[in-house]
Amino acid sequence: MRPVVNQQLLDAIHCSDEISGLTHNAYRYPARSSPYFVRAVIETFTQPGQLVFDPFMGGGTTLIEASVLGRKAVGCDINSLAVFVSKAKTLLMSNRDLAVVNAWARTLVSASTIRQRIEVGSDWIDLGYLKHLDKRETWRMRKMIAIALESLRYLRSDDQRILARLIILRTAQWALDNRRTIPTVHEFRKMLQTTASEATKSSKEYSKAASAVLRTYGSQGANRPVCLHRTVIGIEHDPQVRSLNPPRLILTSPPYPGVHILYHRWQVQGRRESPAPFWITNSLDGEGASYYTFGDRNNQDLKTYFSNAEVAFRSIAQISDAKTIIVQMIAFSDPAWQLPEYLRAMERAGLREIAFDSSTSAKCRIWRSVPNRRWYASWRRGIPSSQEVVLLHQLA
Ligand SMILES: C[S@@+](CC[C@H](N)C(=O)[O-])C[C@H]1O[C@@H](n2cnc3c(N)ncnc32)[C@H](O)[C@@H]1O
Repeated sequence: MRPVVNQQLLDAIHCSDEISGLTHNAYRYPARSSPYFVRAVIETFTQPGQLVFDPFMGGGTTLIEASVLGRKAVGCDINSLAVFVSKAKTLLMSNRDLAVVNAWARTLVSASTIRQRIEVGSDWIDLGYLKHLDKRETWRMRKMIAIALESLRYLRSDDQRILARLIILRTAQWALDNRRTIPTVHEFRKMLQTTASEATKSSKEYSKAASAVLRTYGSQGANRPVCLHRTVIGIEHDPQVRSLNPPRLILTSPPYPGVHILYHRWQVQGRRESPAPFWITNSLDGEGASYYTFGDRNNQDLKTYFSNAEVAFRSIAQISDAKTIIVQMIAFSDPAWQLPEYLRAMERAGLREIAFDSSTSAKCRIWRSVPNRRWYASWRRGIPSSQEVVLLHQLA
């Protein structure tokens, strides 16, 4: 099948609307994909019941969109935070569970006070997960988060607890990550309430859409998304993946070469890196930043990055067949040399780039601008000043 650029896809690439809808905003995962782009790609290249796989699923944008479009959705990520977020955003919640979570948030907001006695887990402190949260400005937030986490024990089901934890995580991200001024306790409580009502509303919207689709396309193979916590390297040996047909679409954003993105830290009060999201999600951190980014970006010529990209995409090629289309959105710190190097890594992995447009064999690539996240396409005009590009591949 030769892909055809349709107007919906081009419009989605140009779209600069704020991200909204479904559960997309329930946590702001770094470098998250545009759901408008993801939706348009899924609709362009697949039919209901077919499998969409995201090997670098991050905050689950592909899985959310694929599942409400009646596609089978499977993703994996090396980051336990990504796996928690993707699972939480794709929960099928009953109205009763949502009401319980809302009531939990109301009680927590009205009953919690900074004077409450609370033990902040000493294991987490010993392991360094609460680093930078003991300063004059931040200790109150740490205590409020600890109080909120402690109150999870009043919830009865796993799904209720996961959604409530996601609400705490998003509120804490708002309070701590990339902020000049740390909010007051009063502001934190107010935001917790707002986040809870938004998260339960968006979870209801997602659950309604995904359940309706399961009723319609379940017999054709649509399922609840599967989020695997693992590296994509060696995915061809994974029993769950081996039991499936090859994906019709692999849609992803891999780590970006040379671009500084922290998938596993919040930046508190300037450049202090905090592993607090792992404390809040009760999950363990991997290693350093290079663990999540295919290697250290200061490594000479990004050799480790490109060799990891090659090995990862060789595994991706192993689970593909002749009909699989691989669509990537990727950014570069210096596209002039990194894009050709990246394309060579794809070739060595057994993938060939395909033209975006069936009417020409030229490799027309669509670029978008990164800094203000505004999308624009430069169609058939070489490499523009933007740094994000859409690439299409198939098995060589
Ligand atoms: C650009 S982000 C994906 C963002 C995602 N598209 C979204 O909408 O949230 C890249 C992801 O790749 C993950 N990653 C890095 N190395 C990996 C590996 N070897 N296997 C699987 N995931 C990996 C990182 O943890 C990160 O979550």
